[in-house]
Amino acid sequence: MVKQMKPNLNVKIGNLDLKNPVMVASGTFGYAREFEDFMDLKKLGAIVTKTITLKARQGNLTPRTCETPAGMLNSIGLENPGIDKFIQEKLPFLRKLGIPVIVSIAAEETPNEFAILVKRLDQISEVSAMELNISCPNLQKNKLISQDVKDTLELVSVVRKLTSKCLIAKLSPSVTSITQIALAAQSGGADAVALINTLGGMSIDVHKRTPKLGAWVGGLSGPAIRPIAVKMVWEAYNKIKIPIIGMGGIMDTESALEFFIAGATAISVGTANFINPQTSQEIITGLEQYMLKNNMQNLSALTGRLKACKA
Ligand SMILES: Cc1cc2nc3c(=O)[nH]c(=O)nc-3n(C[C@H](O)[C@H](O)[C@H](O)COP(=O)(O)O)c2cc1C
Repeated sequence: MVKQMKPNLNVKIGNLDLKNPVMVASGTFGYAREFEDFMDLKKLGAIVTKTITLKARQGNLTPRTCETPAGMLNSIGLENPGIDKFIQEKLPFLRKLGIPVIVSIAAEETPNEFAILVKRLDQISEVSAMELNISCPNLQKNKLISQDVKDTLELVSVVRKLTSKCLIAKLSPSVTSITQIALAAQSGGADAVALINTLGGMSIDVHKRTPKLGAWVGGLSGPAIRPIAVKMVWEAYNKIKIPIIGMGGIMDTESALEFFIAGATAISVGTANFINPQTSQEIITGLEQYMLKNNMQNLSALTGRLKACKA
């Protein structure tokens, strides 16, 4: 019997080489140290940090999370220590892990803050990539950058000129056409798009007649949003040329596979980290087993390989 070779899980996102396509989603894994007792962090394809802003942020009123059918709502409000403290206090631990570190960044007031953050992080060799969080629903803004084609194009084009590091644009699902926004990010020079951030939602405690979240409304994540995310990945895959990092309700290998088949080059595990912190590690193993079983040597045999239903 011929022994089958171990599948190659390597993927490339811009100039970033990942040993496997499984990452953890921003805001659901802290700065990784929080999870060191629960899993072998070195196994991850990459770590995406909690979103960082220029100045420290306290975040929103509590309670900041609540459970919903097949998911959760959160309104963390981008609590973070700010860029200086992130570099001083969080980066040294991430640096030691020896796996790609993707720093998620956002602006509080003006898009120019993105430019300042990108310039700063561009100087740090341990930062492998930057994820532009232009889709945070918890900043109480009327409109997100990624809800506008022109704003997305403009922002990505400006920061593209400031770094040769891998740039990922994280997009909001709350749009009429995800493909138009993804195309704008691509035209601006993004190396990849991350799909999707959370969807706006609200839950009410009927006994107290109060909102369940201190901020009243928040972002919905978890399995409840998976079909929306898979559809958006598939739609974008059919129109754009840059890689897609898929996320939204990935709980296990099977749900991760949906994203690859729809067109994702890599995936991120978010809400599942709160339920089973080893989910990402289990998906890496599960993916390898699926590829072995289906005689796939590389992930290119999986990404976007959706077939039509038989009549
Ligand atoms: C508690 C919590 C905090 C989050 N914080 C961030 C954040 O800081 N930046 C960001 O880009 N996305 C943030 N997200 C969104 C996730 O990264 C992810 O896009 C979304 O939750 C969908 O994936 P999931 O259903 O697997 O959680 C957060 C999600 C949760 C649940």
